[in-house]
Amino acid sequence: MSDPATCLDDPVPLDNRPSLETDRLLLRPFESGDAETVQRLVNDPEIVATTRALHFPYPEGAAARWIAHQPEEWLAGRAVIFAISLKRTGLVIGTVGLEIEAADERAELGYWIDPAFWNRGYASEAAQAVVEFGFRQLGLNRVMAEHMVHNPASGRVLAKVGFRPEGVLRQHARKWGRFYDVAVFGLVREDWLTAGAEIAKIF
Ligand SMILES: CC(C)(COP(=O)(O)OP(=O)(O)OC[C@H]1O[C@@H](n2cnc3c(N)ncnc32)[C@H](O)[C@@H]1OP(=O)(O)O)[C@@H](O)C(=O)NCCC(=O)NCCS
Repeated sequence: MSDPATCLDDPVPLDNRPSLETDRLLLRPFESGDAETVQRLVNDPEIVATTRALHFPYPEGAAARWIAHQPEEWLAGRAVIFAISLKRTGLVIGTVGLEIEAADERAELGYWIDPAFWNRGYASEAAQAVVEFGFRQLGLNRVMAEHMVHNPASGRVLAKVGFRPEGVLRQHARKWGRFYDVAVFGLVREDWLTAGAEIAKIF
Protein backbone atom coordinates (compact mmCIF):
# COMPACT_ATOMS: atom_id res chain seq x y z
CA MET A 1 0.00 0.00 0.00
CA SER A 2 1.33 3.47 -0.76
CA ASP A 3 2.17 5.78 2.10
CA PRO A 4 -0.41 8.64 2.08
CA ALA A 5 2.20 11.06 3.44
CA THR A 6 4.47 10.36 0.46
CA CYS A 7 1.56 10.98 -1.91
CA LEU A 8 0.88 14.35 -0.29
CA ASP A 9 4.54 15.33 -0.43
CA ASP A 10 4.81 14.56 -4.10
CA PRO A 11 1.59 15.57 -5.81
CA VAL A 12 1.32 15.03 -9.54
CA PRO A 13 0.38 18.43 -11.00
CA LEU A 14 -3.00 18.37 -12.67
CA ASP A 15 -2.74 18.92 -16.41
CA ASN A 16 -5.69 21.25 -16.79
CA ARG A 17 -4.60 22.84 -20.05
CA PRO A 18 -7.57 24.11 -22.07
CA SER A 19 -8.91 23.05 -25.47
CA LEU A 20 -10.89 25.30 -27.81
CA GLU A 21 -13.23 24.40 -30.64
CA THR A 22 -13.95 26.40 -33.79
CA ASP A 23 -16.01 25.52 -36.87
CA ARG A 24 -13.26 23.40 -38.43
CA LEU A 25 -10.58 23.11 -35.78
CA LEU A 26 -9.88 21.59 -32.42
CA LEU A 27 -7.18 23.54 -30.59
CA ARG A 28 -5.86 21.16 -27.96
CA PRO A 29 -2.79 20.68 -25.79
CA PHE A 30 0.13 19.00 -27.51
CA GLU A 31 0.83 15.45 -26.33
CA SER A 32 4.10 13.52 -26.45
CA GLY A 33 2.70 11.52 -29.38
CA ASP A 34 2.64 14.71 -31.50
CA ALA A 35 6.42 15.16 -31.31
CA GLU A 36 7.19 13.34 -34.55
CA THR A 37 4.64 15.41 -36.49
CA VAL A 38 5.93 18.69 -35.04
CA GLN A 39 9.55 17.69 -35.69
CA ARG A 40 8.71 16.96 -39.35
CA LEU A 41 6.59 20.08 -39.92
CA VAL A 42 8.94 22.53 -38.27
CA ASN A 43 11.95 21.18 -40.12
CA ASP A 44 10.70 23.06 -43.16
CA PRO A 45 12.51 26.16 -44.43
CA GLU A 46 9.16 27.59 -45.60
CA ILE A 47 8.01 27.80 -41.97
CA VAL A 48 11.36 28.71 -40.46
CA ALA A 49 12.11 31.53 -42.95
CA THR A 50 9.50 33.85 -41.42
CA THR A 51 9.50 32.59 -37.82
CA ARG A 52 11.90 34.28 -35.46
CA ALA A 53 12.02 31.61 -32.74
CA LEU A 54 12.71 28.65 -35.04
CA HIS A 55 15.98 27.53 -36.57
CA PHE A 56 16.72 25.33 -39.55
CA PRO A 57 17.54 22.51 -39.34
CA TYR A 58 15.35 21.97 -36.30
CA PRO A 59 17.55 20.09 -33.79
CA GLU A 60 16.75 16.40 -33.26
CA GLY A 61 14.54 15.94 -30.19
CA ALA A 62 13.64 19.64 -29.99
CA ALA A 63 9.93 19.01 -30.63
CA ALA A 64 9.70 16.46 -27.81
CA ARG A 65 11.48 18.84 -25.42
CA TRP A 66 9.22 21.75 -26.45
CA ILE A 67 6.09 19.66 -25.91
CA ALA A 68 7.29 18.29 -22.55
CA HIS A 69 7.87 21.85 -21.29
CA GLN A 70 4.36 23.11 -22.11
CA PRO A 71 2.39 21.90 -19.04
CA GLU A 72 4.89 23.66 -16.76
CA GLU A 73 4.63 26.88 -18.80
CA TRP A 74 0.83 26.78 -18.50
CA LEU A 75 0.88 26.06 -14.75
CA ALA A 76 3.33 28.93 -14.20
CA GLY A 77 1.08 31.27 -16.22
CA ARG A 78 3.81 31.95 -18.76
CA ALA A 79 2.31 30.47 -21.92
CA VAL A 80 -0.56 28.56 -23.44
CA ILE A 81 0.25 26.59 -26.57
CA PHE A 82 -2.30 24.74 -28.68
CA ALA A 83 -1.93 22.10 -31.38
CA ILE A 84 -4.14 23.09 -34.32
CA SER A 85 -5.90 19.93 -35.44
CA LEU A 86 -8.58 19.40 -38.07
CA LYS A 87 -11.82 18.36 -36.41
CA ARG A 88 -12.75 16.14 -39.34
CA THR A 89 -9.60 13.98 -39.34
CA GLY A 90 -7.67 14.82 -36.16
CA LEU A 91 -4.63 15.75 -38.25
CA VAL A 92 -2.27 18.25 -36.59
CA ILE A 93 -1.55 21.08 -39.06
CA GLY A 94 0.10 23.71 -36.90
CA THR A 95 0.31 25.56 -33.65
CA VAL A 96 -1.00 28.75 -32.09
CA GLY A 97 -0.26 30.17 -28.68
CA LEU A 98 0.19 33.06 -26.31
CA GLU A 99 3.35 34.00 -24.41
CA ILE A 100 1.96 35.73 -21.33
CA GLU A 101 3.31 38.75 -19.40
CA ALA A 102 1.03 38.47 -16.37
CA ALA A 103 2.21 41.68 -14.68
CA ASP A 104 1.11 43.70 -17.71
CA GLU A 105 -1.98 41.55 -18.42
CA ARG A 106 -0.66 41.17 -21.95
CA ALA A 107 0.40 38.37 -24.25
CA GLU A 108 2.15 37.84 -27.58
CA LEU A 109 0.37 35.73 -30.17
CA GLY A 110 2.32 33.32 -32.37
CA TYR A 111 1.41 30.64 -34.92
CA TRP A 112 2.54 28.52 -37.83
CA ILE A 113 0.66 26.26 -40.24
CA ASP A 114 1.82 23.33 -42.38
CA PRO A 115 2.40 24.87 -45.86
CA ALA A 116 0.19 22.14 -47.38
CA PHE A 117 -2.74 23.89 -45.64
CA TRP A 118 -1.93 27.56 -46.25
CA ASN A 119 -4.52 30.05 -47.51
CA ARG A 120 -7.55 28.15 -46.29
CA GLY A 121 -8.24 30.46 -43.36
CA TYR A 122 -6.94 28.08 -40.70
CA ALA A 123 -4.46 30.47 -39.04
CA SER A 124 -7.09 33.21 -38.87
CA GLU A 125 -9.70 30.84 -37.43
CA ALA A 126 -7.26 29.58 -34.80
CA ALA A 127 -5.91 33.03 -33.95
CA GLN A 128 -9.40 34.44 -33.47
CA ALA A 129 -10.30 31.67 -31.00
CA VAL A 130 -7.09 32.11 -29.03
CA VAL A 131 -7.44 35.89 -28.87
CA GLU A 132 -10.99 35.45 -27.57
CA PHE A 133 -9.67 32.95 -25.01
CA GLY A 134 -7.01 35.46 -23.96
CA PHE A 135 -9.45 38.27 -23.35
CA ARG A 136 -12.32 36.23 -21.91
CA GLN A 137 -10.64 33.43 -19.95
CA LEU A 138 -7.21 34.84 -19.15
CA GLY A 139 -8.50 38.37 -18.55
CA LEU A 140 -5.84 39.96 -20.74
CA ASN A 141 -5.88 43.65 -21.50
CA ARG A 142 -3.71 43.49 -24.62
CA VAL A 143 -2.57 40.96 -27.20
CA MET A 144 0.24 41.87 -29.56
CA ALA A 145 2.00 40.15 -32.43
CA GLU A 146 4.94 40.81 -34.69
CA HIS A 147 5.84 39.64 -38.15
CA MET A 148 8.77 40.18 -40.45
CA VAL A 149 7.64 42.52 -43.20
CA HIS A 150 8.40 39.98 -45.92
CA ASN A 151 5.60 37.84 -44.46
CA PRO A 152 2.44 39.65 -45.60
CA ALA A 153 0.26 36.55 -45.03
CA SER A 154 0.84 36.91 -41.29
CA GLY A 155 -0.08 40.60 -41.42
CA ARG A 156 -3.28 39.65 -43.22
CA VAL A 157 -4.12 37.07 -40.52
CA LEU A 158 -3.70 39.73 -37.83
CA ALA A 159 -5.77 42.29 -39.72
CA LYS A 160 -8.58 39.75 -40.20
CA VAL A 161 -8.63 39.07 -36.45
CA GLY A 162 -8.86 42.80 -35.67
CA PHE A 163 -5.28 43.74 -34.80
CA ARG A 164 -4.13 47.27 -35.59
CA PRO A 165 -0.72 48.10 -37.05
CA GLU A 166 1.39 49.93 -34.48
CA GLY A 167 4.58 50.55 -36.41
CA VAL A 168 7.65 49.00 -37.90
CA LEU A 169 10.84 48.18 -36.01
CA ARG A 170 13.62 48.75 -38.49
CA GLN A 171 16.09 45.87 -38.95
CA HIS A 172 14.79 44.38 -35.70
CA ALA A 173 15.25 40.70 -36.60
CA ARG A 174 18.34 38.90 -37.85
CA LYS A 175 17.65 35.78 -39.85
CA TRP A 176 20.15 33.76 -41.82
CA GLY A 177 22.69 36.57 -41.85
CA ARG A 178 20.27 39.35 -42.89
CA PHE A 179 18.42 42.02 -40.92
CA TYR A 180 14.68 42.38 -41.44
CA ASP A 181 12.16 45.04 -40.51
CA VAL A 182 9.45 43.78 -38.15
CA ALA A 183 5.85 45.03 -38.15
CA VAL A 184 4.12 45.29 -34.77
CA PHE A 185 0.38 44.75 -34.35
CA GLY A 186 -1.76 45.17 -31.23
CA LEU A 187 -5.28 44.57 -30.04
CA VAL A 188 -6.47 45.99 -26.73
CA ARG A 189 -9.45 44.77 -24.76
CA GLU A 190 -11.60 47.87 -25.34
CA ASP A 191 -11.15 47.63 -29.12
CA TRP A 192 -11.79 43.90 -29.08
CA LEU A 193 -15.01 44.36 -27.06
CA THR A 194 -16.40 46.87 -29.56
CA ALA A 195 -15.10 45.17 -32.72
CA GLY A 196 -15.62 41.55 -31.63
CA ALA A 197 -19.08 41.20 -33.12
CA GLU A 198 -17.95 42.60 -36.48
CA ILE A 199 -14.87 40.35 -36.59
CA ALA A 200 -16.95 37.26 -35.87
CA LYS A 201 -19.00 37.92 -39.03
CA ILE A 202 -15.91 37.40 -41.22
CA PHE A 203 -15.73 33.72 -40.34
C1 LIG B 1 1.42 33.09 -41.75
C2 LIG B 1 0.66 31.76 -41.79
C3 LIG B 1 0.49 31.26 -40.36
C4 LIG B 1 -0.71 31.98 -42.43
O1 LIG B 1 -1.44 30.78 -42.31
P1 LIG B 1 -2.74 30.51 -43.21
O2 LIG B 1 -3.52 29.41 -42.59
O3 LIG B 1 -2.35 30.38 -44.62
O4 LIG B 1 -3.52 31.90 -43.01
P2 LIG B 1 -5.00 32.25 -43.48
O5 LIG B 1 -5.40 31.35 -44.60
O6 LIG B 1 -5.88 32.32 -42.28
O7 LIG B 1 -4.82 33.75 -44.01
C5 LIG B 1 -3.77 34.06 -44.90
C6 LIG B 1 -4.14 35.36 -45.61
O8 LIG B 1 -2.95 35.90 -46.20
C7 LIG B 1 -3.17 36.12 -47.58
N1 LIG B 1 -1.89 35.95 -48.25
C8 LIG B 1 -1.20 34.83 -48.49
N2 LIG B 1 -0.05 35.12 -49.11
C9 LIG B 1 -0.01 36.47 -49.24
C10 LIG B 1 0.92 37.38 -49.81
N3 LIG B 1 2.07 36.97 -50.36
N4 LIG B 1 0.63 38.70 -49.78
C11 LIG B 1 -0.52 39.15 -49.22
N5 LIG B 1 -1.45 38.33 -48.67
C12 LIG B 1 -1.19 37.00 -48.68
C13 LIG B 1 -4.20 35.06 -47.96
O9 LIG B 1 -4.83 35.39 -49.17
C14 LIG B 1 -5.12 35.13 -46.75
O10 LIG B 1 -5.93 36.30 -46.80
P3 LIG B 1 -7.49 36.22 -47.27
O11 LIG B 1 -8.17 35.25 -46.37
O12 LIG B 1 -7.97 37.62 -47.12
O13 LIG B 1 -7.47 35.74 -48.69
C15 LIG B 1 1.44 30.71 -42.62
O14 LIG B 1 1.75 31.27 -43.86
C16 LIG B 1 2.70 30.20 -41.95
O15 LIG B 1 2.66 29.30 -41.14
N6 LIG B 1 3.87 30.81 -42.31
C17 LIG B 1 5.15 30.36 -41.77
C18 LIG B 1 5.27 30.62 -40.28
C19 LIG B 1 4.98 32.06 -39.94
O16 LIG B 1 5.33 32.96 -40.68
N7 LIG B 1 4.30 32.26 -38.80
C20 LIG B 1 3.97 33.60 -38.36
C21 LIG B 1 5.15 34.25 -37.77
S1 LIG B 1 4.76 35.96 -37.41
